[in-house]
Amino acid sequence: MVTGAASGIGRAGALLFAAAGAAVVALDRAPEVEDTAAQIRAAGGRALALVRDASAEQDISGAVALTIKEYGALDVCFANAGISGGLVPFFEETVEHWMQVLNINLIGTFLAAKYAALAMVERKRGSIICTASVAGLRSGAGGMPYSASKAGVISLVQTAANQLSGTGVRINAICPGLIESGMTRPIFEQARARGSERKIGQLNPLRRPGNPGEIAQTALFLASDASSYVNGQAIAVDGGLSTSHPIVIKHEK
Ligand SMILES: NC(=O)c1ccc[n+]([C@@H]2O[C@H](COP(=O)([O-])OP(=O)(O)OC[C@H]3O[C@@H](n4cnc5c(N)ncnc54)[C@H](O)[C@@H]3O)[C@@H](O)[C@H]2O)c1
Repeated sequence: MVTGAASGIGRAGALLFAAAGAAVVALDRAPEVEDTAAQIRAAGGRALALVRDASAEQDISGAVALTIKEYGALDVCFANAGISGGLVPFFEETVEHWMQVLNINLIGTFLAAKYAALAMVERKRGSIICTASVAGLRSGAGGMPYSASKAGVISLVQTAANQLSGTGVRINAICPGLIESGMTRPIFEQARARGSERKIGQLNPLRRPGNPGEIAQTALFLASDASSYVNGQAIAVDGGLSTSHPIVIKHEK
């Protein structure tokens, strides 16, 4: 089951999981999630699209139940749906805006993790992967509620891994850096319009943005038995962005 599967990282994850042989339940509140499932089926895979709200408890519990009904079990949950919330200045932030961002990014991730884990513990196996962000590691990569929500996802993964002690169910987070997706499209479009595309991603040592497929590859690793001893971790996939404080590199290479 992949949430936020209509676009960006979630769609890339759903397609990659399917290519690796998984039957995929693609969930998103956007109807374009049907296209994700259609692409999987066109390639000969198995997929079901669900237009649902990832922050609504009944939608998530129902989606897990439907996954089990359709495919017999839930092996992997990629809890990935999220919104950026924009860059609202500190003193203009409101409770309503914080509630909206936390509700989708943090509570929604908690709901996916909870109902997925409930289904997985019976079988004593399963992998839950949550999309956090480098914004959850330190400031400078998103608005206040967004950054707090992603720090919350990292904490959720650490505490849930321990709450799931002895069950055989693993839970990890991925912390993407700057990835070209629906969420960041305005940044890329504005830079292209200004002719400054070359500057996008210049703050990381690889000096480029990432693409959703590069995050999906890490999700596939965490989904598979190749990561059988990786648990409770927040793995940055950011071109090296989070390894350094911001500095200007003087020498050109
Ligand atoms: N793009 C980046 O640079 C970047 C960096 C770090 C983390 N992330 C995280 O990656 C995840 C995926 O985002 P993306 O970059 O692919 O952006 P995206 O906008 O392309 O995809 C996000 C998807 O989540 C869906 N979604 C949002 N709220 C939902 C809800 N309540 N219920 C169901 N679906 C919902 C959207 O409809 C959309 O299809 C998010 O959690 C985001 O915070 C992105």
